[in-house]
Amino acid sequence: MKVVKFIRHTLVRCGGLGGLSCVLILLVAMPGSFGCSERLSALQRTPNGGAESEHQRLAEVNAYPLEQNLIINVDHRSTVSLNGKWQVIIDPYENGYYDYRYLPKTNGYFKNTKPRNKSELIEYDFDKSEVLNVPGDWNSQKDRLFFYEGTVWYKKSFDYQRKPNTRVFVYLGAANYHSIVYLNGQKLGEHEGGFTPFNFEITKVVREKDNFLIVKVDNKRRRDAVPTVNTDWWNYGGLTRRVELVEVPQTFIRDYFIQLKPAQGRGLAEGGKGSTKTIAGWIQLDGNQTEQAITVEIPEADVKQTFKSNADGYAEFEFDAELQLWSPENPKLYDVTIKFETDSVHDSIGFRTIETKGSKILLNGKPIFLRGISIHEQAPKSDSRAHSQKHAETLLGWAKEMNCNFARLAHYPHNENMPRTADRLGMLVWSEIPVYWTILWENEDTLKNALNQLTEMITRDKNRASVILWSMANETPVGKARNEFLKTLVKQAKSLDPTRLITAAMEKSYKGANTPVINDPFGQYVDVLGCNEYIGWYEGLPDKCDSYTWTTIYDKPVIISELGGGALYGFHADKDTRWSEEYQEYLYEKQVEMLEKIPFLAGTSPWILTDFMSPRRPLPQIQDYWNRKGLISDKGKKKKAFYVMQRFYEKLKQDEQ
Ligand code: GCU
Repeated sequence: MKVVKFIRHTLVRCGGLGGLSCVLILLVAMPGSFGCSERLSALQRTPNGGAESEHQRLAEVNAYPLEQNLIINVDHRSTVSLNGKWQVIIDPYENGYYDYRYLPKTNGYFKNTKPRNKSELIEYDFDKSEVLNVPGDWNSQKDRLFFYEGTVWYKKSFDYQRKPNTRVFVYLGAANYHSIVYLNGQKLGEHEGGFTPFNFEITKVVREKDNFLIVKVDNKRRRDAVPTVNTDWWNYGGLTRRVELVEVPQTFIRDYFIQLKPAQGRGLAEGGKGSTKTIAGWIQLDGNQTEQAITVEIPEADVKQTFKSNADGYAEFEFDAELQLWSPENPKLYDVTIKFETDSVHDSIGFRTIETKGSKILLNGKPIFLRGISIHEQAPKSDSRAHSQKHAETLLGWAKEMNCNFARLAHYPHNENMPRTADRLGMLVWSEIPVYWTILWENEDTLKNALNQLTEMITRDKNRASVILWSMANETPVGKARNEFLKTLVKQAKSLDPTRLITAAMEKSYKGANTPVINDPFGQYVDVLGCNEYIGWYEGLPDKCDSYTWTTIYDKPVIISELGGGALYGFHADKDTRWSEEYQEYLYEKQVEMLEKIPFLAGTSPWILTDFMSPRRPLPQIQDYWNRKGLISDKGKKKKAFYVMQRFYEKLKQDEQ
């Protein structure tokens, strides 16, 4: 086992297969034991180290996917934005990549070739092609791309003056779904997954003049992908989030984890108590000057501590500090600076503890009810994908107006503006990977892909106080292969971050006609049970709520992670008329009455804050490809049901005081 961890550890260091050669050297040179278990020691070891099932072994081996060299906190780094207009070639037949024998071309569009003379045959030209905005999905930018699923080639030209003794990376906030990135005709790498960031080093490839960065983005749905072919959200394609050049010193602070020390040994779910004054964490340098004296400074808390990093550029630390704890009422963020001789990075970090006790969720040791709402990454008042800080402020601002202290970001990691804005506004966050409905549970690549998306999500947001829950999945069918798959994700999540709670949005079953029971077998592996229910919409009429008595087989907190029904804003009728605001309002009134009777309920996140686009919703004059379950319309108008939840949460808020 030690050797496996050693290989994984070194692969991460040496950046994927390229480093395989050095692995071999090292294997010969220094048998010993590294591995990210060291990282755990800084925060907490998981109980049993042994690998059980095939899936366990895979998770063991793949705990750190090869391309895991993500740079975190790009917001506070020296960057050059490549956002703006990019030339594009829409290539449904991937003619820019494959030849007529469907073999990859060596001189594809990524070469950006220009005819050298009047006779040379070149059948594409980026510089005469149309443009698309980045960040942005392509579907909402051009009518003829509204339903488009396929490949689009993006090209951005730029000059770049690299400062001495620096390295440069190209960083992409997200690209949906599969992307291949090239600079000056050279392939930098590939990325799968439409909702997490990735970066490639370009130090040796970038030049002073006329660089051309080309990204092949393909959002074609695939059965073995994550998500798979059917979802209830629009498959927005493109460079949907920012693209930046990140300039760093030769050896720099690539990754770090700074949080309050979590409960020891017994773990959170068993009521282990997290520390409210001991900060614990680690720092990962990237470069060749790896042994450094690294200082962590939190001036407002009078903290200035220095630690030594080892030959792998890894340092762990633990120290006490007098802190104001972060909470929705007091979203206190500290300015934290990490620095050593040649690099320094600062971040705004809040400190809070989150744990469970029986069916209660405890924030900073006190029970809290999660007054929540589910949110899709739909730009407010727009048919496009959200990406900006302004979008985040509008969406979370509406949730605040509804008296929420919690947001379920569904069904994939949202752009980084969301958790960072939630940190500032004081909104607790549920963050999820798109293991949605029925993916291929027995496909090893699907598992690796899900593990990679999970790793990237946690890597990017692990220092956000607002994020309290990592969700492994949504509405997945109970079954052996599925259970094993999800267990492997939980193991990975806990090994990367023992400070947060693990959950998933599951479905209920029935003990009796009116007795829903939460008994999904996967429930035993999570800290908090999410349960989606649509009583009064997909299941009967709103009055059905009156007859229900909820039960659970677990002594754990339950969040009703989805509830609700549709309404077209402005359509008014009696409460029995579907799609009317009165029907939705009455449904919510009945739901609230039912929810108040559930003794083990620790939170709710109704489906959903705003109407959102979905290809599964064609009903003319009502849906027109919008899922109308929003409490706020696609034009930003509040429906009557919005006020039912606002009043319910106001009452809960009062009760908590
Ligand atoms: C499901 C699912 C959502 C979907 C919603 C709906 O429960 O999780 O993604 O949009 O129901 O049907 O509106």
